[in-house]
Amino acid sequence: MSDWIKGRVIAKRRWKEGLYSMQFEAPIADFTAGQFIKVALDIDGDRVGRPYSLVNPPHQRPLEIYFTEIPSGPLTPPLSHLDPGASLWISAKPNGIFTLEGVRPGRELWMLATGTALGVYLSILRTDDPWALFERVILVHGVRQGDDLTYGETLSLIADAQRERFTFIPVVSREAHPAALPGRITDRIVAGDLERRVGAPIDPARSHVMLCGNSEMIKEVKVILETRGLTRHRRQTPGHYTTEHYH
Ligand SMILES: Cc1cc2nc3c(=O)[nH]c(=O)nc-3n(C[C@H](O)[C@H](O)[C@H](O)COP(=O)(O)OP(=O)(O)OC[C@H]3O[C@@H](n4cnc5c(N)ncnc54)[C@H](O)[C@@H]3O)c2cc1C
Ligand SMILES: NC(=O)c1ccc[n+]([C@@H]2O[C@H](COP(=O)([O-])OP(=O)(O)OC[C@H]3O[C@@H](n4cnc5c(N)ncnc54)[C@H](OP(=O)(O)O)[C@@H]3O)[C@@H](O)[C@H]2O)c1
Repeated sequence: MSDWIKGRVIAKRRWKEGLYSMQFEAPIADFTAGQFIKVALDIDGDRVGRPYSLVNPPHQRPLEIYFTEIPSGPLTPPLSHLDPGASLWISAKPNGIFTLEGVRPGRELWMLATGTALGVYLSILRTDDPWALFERVILVHGVRQGDDLTYGETLSLIADAQRERFTFIPVVSREAHPAALPGRITDRIVAGDLERRVGAPIDPARSHVMLCGNSEMIKEVKVILETRGLTRHRRQTPGHYTTEHYH
């Protein structure tokens, strides 16, 4: 059971219809980049809580989450209506193992995200860990439409700080976009486009791959990775890929 503490909304950003970032203040325990908190509202007498990855790095406040409104979902419609000053419940202790803990150093770290899974990587990328462990980091963001490509300012700050060590590859599936690869992340891996763009193979001898977001994407990419000899990473038995399913 979660140990709930009261939080207060500081700011909300509506990127487009149904797509939001929200900032809170709440005295949560320390966390590791890649972990999530639970956010809850009391709805019709029940406390409805859902996990959300933290977007802010551990050393920065306020806390921040990035989410889509699921019209049929119980939590996200009322959550997206909260304005600064509103209160909500936050789990006191962040959780999760989608971190770089125990990951072996290598040449390239690949971070693959669909939709709002971008957020978790923005936390990890703003710590020292990926840059201490890997020579290069490649962030691939797969979305439906061009206006789902958010957090441009944050990505520019990371790119400015890391220069040629950081590569961002947007992939847009439902419309043509001048700055993005077309289709799905899976299509682009199978066609070899991601590796060609980066100039390096996804290979167990040099790569670690993080997969976050849509379960179907994760399932399909896992098969591709395992065919190439990459194995699941566990803290006790280090491997080459790590996953976090949102839906
Ligand atoms: C560890 C973990 C971390 C998560 N972090 C995030 C996060 O940072 N941002 C975020 O938006 N969601 C995240 N989620 C999903 C989130 O917890 C909720 O499920 C989601 O916000 C919808 O809540 P809801 O109560 O409105 O509907 P729910 O009843 O929870 O979900 C209704 C349906 O919506 C779909 N769905 C749920 N989440 C998403 C999503 N993100 N994108 C597309 N479809 C979805 C699923 O098909 C689900 O069956 C995370 C889930 C897990 C397990
Ligand atoms: N994104 C928004 O701005 C927004 C706003 C309001 C509401 N919503 C709601 O949120 C839900 C989903 O939103 P979302 O677009 O963030 O997430 P999503 O459906 O997971 O789609 C994100 C990206 O993942 C791709 N994808 C889906 N299955 C895949 C697979 N098996 N392998 C590889 N890639 C795969 C999608 O491609 P395809 O396009 O080919 O499926 C898309 O490019 C929907 O209910 C939507 O109505 C979203």
